[in-house]
Amino acid sequence: MKRVCIIGASGKLGRYMVQHALERGYQVAAVCRQQSVSKLADLADKISLFPGATNDRDVIRQAVSGCDGVLTVLVPWGVQQYSSGTAQAVLDFAESDARLIFSCGWHISRDGKDIYSWRFKALLTLFGKLARLFRLVELDDQIEACRRIFDSDTRWTVVRGSDLEEGESQGLPVWSRHVGDPILKSNLTRRIDFALFMVDAMERDELIHEAPAIVGCKSPSVIENS
Ligand SMILES: NC(=O)c1ccc[n+]([C@@H]2O[C@H](COP(=O)([O-])OP(=O)(O)OC[C@H]3O[C@@H](n4cnc5c(N)ncnc54)[C@H](OP(=O)(O)O)[C@@H]3O)[C@@H](O)[C@H]2O)c1
Repeated sequence: MKRVCIIGASGKLGRYMVQHALERGYQVAAVCRQQSVSKLADLADKISLFPGATNDRDVIRQAVSGCDGVLTVLVPWGVQQYSSGTAQAVLDFAESDARLIFSCGWHISRDGKDIYSWRFKALLTLFGKLARLFRLVELDDQIEACRRIFDSDTRWTVVRGSDLEEGESQGLPVWSRHVGDPILKSNLTRRIDFALFMVDAMERDELIHEAPAIVGCKSPSVIENS
C-alpha cells in the first residue's frame, strides 16, 4: 500500500487531499499546526498525525519517512520564511524516489513565459503591498520556496492553482504550461478538484519537473478551446 504525507492537512485544500488519498487506499501521514489538530478529529483513526509547524524540520523529517509521495500546501504565512522553510525541509528529508507535489498560485512563474492580465497583476501588487504592511503574508518567500524546488533534482511537480471556489467535484482540472494560454482564461477551479489534481499527480510521471497551471475542466474557457 502506498504511503503519502500531506503537509498542511488541516486547511481547506489539505482536508480535500486527505479525503482523496484515503479514497485511493493510501496510508496517510498528516502534518498540521498543534492548534489545528482538532480540525482533523473526525479522521483521527484513519491517519497518522504529526502535529507541528510545517517548517519544523524535525516534524517534517519524521512525517515524510517511508512515504512514496509528499503533498505540500505551500502557504506564505508570516514573515519567518514559512514557505521556503517548509519546502526546504521536504526537499531535504523526503525519500529520494518520492513524488513531491507542491501547491501554489498562478503568480509563481517557472520560466518567465507566463502572460498575466493587467487585472491579475494589479491585484497581486495590491495584495503584496497590504501583506507586507501588516506583516501577515510573505509572497516573496513563496517565490523563493518555488525557486528552490525548481532547482532541485527531486521528482517534483508544482501545481499552480487558479482562483478557487467551493462546490462538488467536476473532475480532474485541465492544465497548461503557461498562464495566458486561452484554455485557462476562466481562472476558476473547485478547491476539491485542485486537491484531486495534487493527489493524481503522484501517479503521473509526465508531470515530473512541470509547473502546471490548472483550471476547472468544465470552465467556459476549456469548453471553448478543446
Ligand atoms: N485561496 C485561493 O484563492 C488560492 C488561489 C490559488 C492558489 N492557492 C493555493 O492553494 C493552496 C491552499 O490555499 P487556500 O487558500 O485554499 O488555503 P487552505 O487550504 O485553507 O490552507 C491554509 C493553510 O495555511 C495554514 N495557516 C493558516 N494560518 C496560518 C498561520 N498563521 N501560520 C501558518 N500556517 C497557517 C492552515 O493551517 P491551519 O489549518 O493550521 O490553520 C492551512 O494549512 C496554497 O498553496 C495557495 O497558494 C490558493
